[in-house]
Amino acid sequence: MFTKLLNWVDDRFPFTDTWERHLSKYPAPIGQNFWYLAGVLMVVVLVIQLISGIWLLMSYEATVEEAFASIQYIMRDVDYGWIIRYMHTTGSSMFFLLIYLHMFRGLLYGSYQKPRELLWILGWFTYIILVAEGFTGYVLPWGQMSFWAAQVIMSLFGSIPFIGEELLTWIRGDYMISGITLGRLFAFHVVLLPLALIAVVFVHIIALHEVGSNNPEGIDVKKHVDEDGVPLDTVPFFPYDVMKDIFAIGVFLIIFCFIIFFFPDGGGYLIEYVNYEEANNLITPEHIVPAWYYTPYYAMLRAITFPIGPLTAKFLGFVIMTAGMVIIAFVPWLDRSPVKSIRYKGMYSKLALCGLVVSFFVLGYLGMIRPNPLRTALAQVFTALYFAYFLLMPFYTKYEKCKTVPDRIKLQ
Ligand code: HEM
Repeated sequence: MFTKLLNWVDDRFPFTDTWERHLSKYPAPIGQNFWYLAGVLMVVVLVIQLISGIWLLMSYEATVEEAFASIQYIMRDVDYGWIIRYMHTTGSSMFFLLIYLHMFRGLLYGSYQKPRELLWILGWFTYIILVAEGFTGYVLPWGQMSFWAAQVIMSLFGSIPFIGEELLTWIRGDYMISGITLGRLFAFHVVLLPLALIAVVFVHIIALHEVGSNNPEGIDVKKHVDEDGVPLDTVPFFPYDVMKDIFAIGVFLIIFCFIIFFFPDGGGYLIEYVNYEEANNLITPEHIVPAWYYTPYYAMLRAITFPIGPLTAKFLGFVIMTAGMVIIAFVPWLDRSPVKSIRYKGMYSKLALCGLVVSFFVLGYLGMIRPNPLRTALAQVFTALYFAYFLLMPFYTKYEKCKTVPDRIKLQ
C-alpha cells in the first residue's frame, strides 16, 4: 500500500529522489568534528524562532502605546507566555553564537575555497539577514534600550554625506523614531526578513549538496570514488550523521532549557536590564550598549574618533563597521593558499587566525564597556588587527610554506 502510494507520488514529483539525494544517501565525509554541528543546530534554532515568534505574535501589539505593556502581558498573563518569550530571546543569542562558530569553522578548514565560494556567499547573506533580524526584533519590546539602540543605529544613516538627513527621515518614516518606525521594523521582523532567511538557508543547503561537504582535513573526497560513483571517504547521511546530529541536538536542548528555566536574562547579556524600563525619548540611558553579538562591530564604530576632510567621524565609523561585516564575503578570493585546512597551512595563517579571534573577543569586550581614551586606542589597534587578517591574506597565504595534504582521510 505504502509502496504503491510512494510510486504514485514519485511518478508526479521526485520525492524519493530528493529524499535520497539530500537526506538519506547524502555522502558526508568521515572525520567531521564538533565544528560541523553548528549548521544543523542553527536549523533547529530557526524552527524554534519561527514557532515561538508566531506564538508571541498572537499577543504582541506593535504600537507605541501597547508594545511594552503587551510584552508584560505575555510574561505575566498569557499561559506559558514567559516560556515562549524566553525561548525567543535565548534563541536569538544562540543563533548568533552558532553562526559565529559556523563561520569560524569555515575559516578554520577553508570551506569557502573553490568550489564552495557561492555556498559561502549565500551563508554570508544569512548572516546579514540575521543581523537585521536581531536589530529589528530588539526594538519591538519598546524598552529603553530598544528605543535608544534604534536611535543610535538609525542615526548612522543620517551621517551619510549629502543624502543622510533625507535618507534617515525616509527610513524612520517620521522626523523622530515613532510608532511609524516601530510599525515598519515590525513588518520587516515578522514577514520580510524571516521569509528571506528561510529562502536563503534553503538555497545555502542546496548549494552545499551540489558541491559536497568539506572536512577538517580539507581533502577533496570526490577524487576517490567506488564503482557507483560514491566517494570512498564518506558515509551515508542516514544513519551515521543523523545519529551524531540527534545527540548534538539533545545536548544543545538541555543547555537551551537550562538557560530558559534558570538563567533567562543571562546576567543582563541575553535580556538587558535597562530594557525592563519603558522607552522614553526624554531620558537617554547613561550607557547605551547593543546586544553582545554586535559589540565587536559597535567597538569598530566607536573606534573612529577623527574626521577626514568633509567626512565626519561618525560616518567613517559607520563605514568601518559595515566594512567589517562585508569583508567576510570576500574571503574566497583573498585566500591564495594551495591547501584548505589550517592543519596544512603555514605558521602565518595560524597566527593570523589567532589574531582574528583575539581581536574579535577584545573588540566584543570593548564594545560593552564605556569608552575612555585608552580603550578607544585599544579599539583602534584591534580593529586594525581584525582587518589585517583579511587584507593581508593574499600575501601570507601565498608566501607561507604549507604541509603536503594526504590523498585520503585517515581517521585518528
Ligand atoms: C541561518 C544561518 C545558516 C544556516 C541555518 C546554515 C546551515 C548549514 C548547514 C546545515 C550546513 C551543513 C552542516 C555543516 O557543515 O555545518 C552548512 C554548511 C556550510 N555553511 Fe552554513 N548555515 C548558515 C549560515 C552560514 C554562514 C553565515 C556562512 C558563512 C559566511 C556559512 C557557510 C557554510 C559553509 C562554507 C558550509 C560548508 C562547510 C563544510 O562543508 O566544511 N553558513 N550550513
